[in-house]
Amino acid sequence: MSILIKNIKKTVQTENSHVKKVCGKDMSIVNTLDNSFIFTEKDKIVDFGKMSDLEDKNYFAEKIIDASGKMVFPSFCDSHTHLVYAGSREIEYIDKIKGLSYEEIAKRGGGILNSAKLLSEISEDELYEQSFLRINEIVRQGTGAVEIKTGYGLKLEAELKMLRVIKRLQETAPITIKATYLAAHAVPREYKSNQTGYVNYVISEIMPAIANEKTAEFIDVFCDKGFFTVSETDKILSAGAKYGLIPKIHANELDFSGGIQVATKYNALSADHLEYVGENEIKAFKNSRTMPTILPGAAFFLNLPISPARKMINAGLPLAIASDFNPGSSPSGNMKLMSSIAMINYKLTSQELINATTINTAYAMGVSDTHGSIAVGKKANLFITKEIPTVEYFHYSFGSDLVDKIILNGNLLGNS
Ligand code: NIG
Ligand code: FE
Repeated sequence: MSILIKNIKKTVQTENSHVKKVCGKDMSIVNTLDNSFIFTEKDKIVDFGKMSDLEDKNYFAEKIIDASGKMVFPSFCDSHTHLVYAGSREIEYIDKIKGLSYEEIAKRGGGILNSAKLLSEISEDELYEQSFLRINEIVRQGTGAVEIKTGYGLKLEAELKMLRVIKRLQETAPITIKATYLAAHAVPREYKSNQTGYVNYVISEIMPAIANEKTAEFIDVFCDKGFFTVSETDKILSAGAKYGLIPKIHANELDFSGGIQVATKYNALSADHLEYVGENEIKAFKNSRTMPTILPGAAFFLNLPISPARKMINAGLPLAIASDFNPGSSPSGNMKLMSSIAMINYKLTSQELINATTINTAYAMGVSDTHGSIAVGKKANLFITKEIPTVEYFHYSFGSDLVDKIILNGNLLGNS
């Protein structure tokens, strides 16, 4: 299909020269084009520019959209989710309201183990259907690329079941999906007093089978207080490297866990959560290619300390923002809402939020050559907003759905 979007009030995050990520001061720069057009053909952006230049172009489009008063953004890239899961955990959240911490709930057999049990009880088809509904939800909210982790399987067969569901989503969902093998998320009951035995089981039995499927490109470990140690993480990442699995690490959510240092040591693509970041952690990031990624939904939902996002940007680092969509710490994959929470709690500007949720998250999931900005030759994954006065209004109106029309792979989504 070919689409011409014309009379766009403002095209946002246009790319002049190709960048893989945006760092430090550049985080506050977002290129925009007023009174503009975008032409897409098949699944690619073919051209964009000023309306005044359109007449000379003679484009033939099967579909013409008038975007008067509206803006066009590149779709969000969400580089950290656990959206393949069974059921939900709202009842467990009552314990949280009554004062228990995330770790305390986990220790009582709730948390990840609760999700693992629910996952083992439903069929693969059912798991796929529940997950597909979540994909549809985030698509409607403007996401065009998403990373999905395993990690609620904990044992071989259930981890493979998750991976097969992710593969089926890759084949059927309209958005780009990248898979991560979350090798160490929690210790299952059978190994309760034998964490080392579990790590060995992960490395010798689960990892080879997962790697053999070739669905997952990335490997993850929950390296934090009460979960997996630095030396266990080191062991798992070193084994993963032999299969070519690139790390993306859960780090420093609950403590100064050393997770950031082990992530950067293994050239992780990203280290995520980052509530506990000091000078040493900033230094580790500085000497690496690892994308610092904050997950404002999880920090908001669990009442965690606010990550020093501003300090990291001031130190010249890039910053990404992802949703962490999962049933325990962030039961939402709404990237617009994540942006607004980050604006309010981390004091980030609209320009920083846009870079953090598009090009930098694209980098954090290995797709910044094809996603994350409006650029000639990139995937035609975009959304048209409702009529809005300014770019800033998009993040400021935190409860409003401002996504009007969605284009993914160059196709206009029905009912949008
Ligand atoms: O990113 N922190 C570890 N894992 C997930 C939560 C998983 C869960 O509670 O189900 C997270 O927050
Ligand atoms: Fe997570």
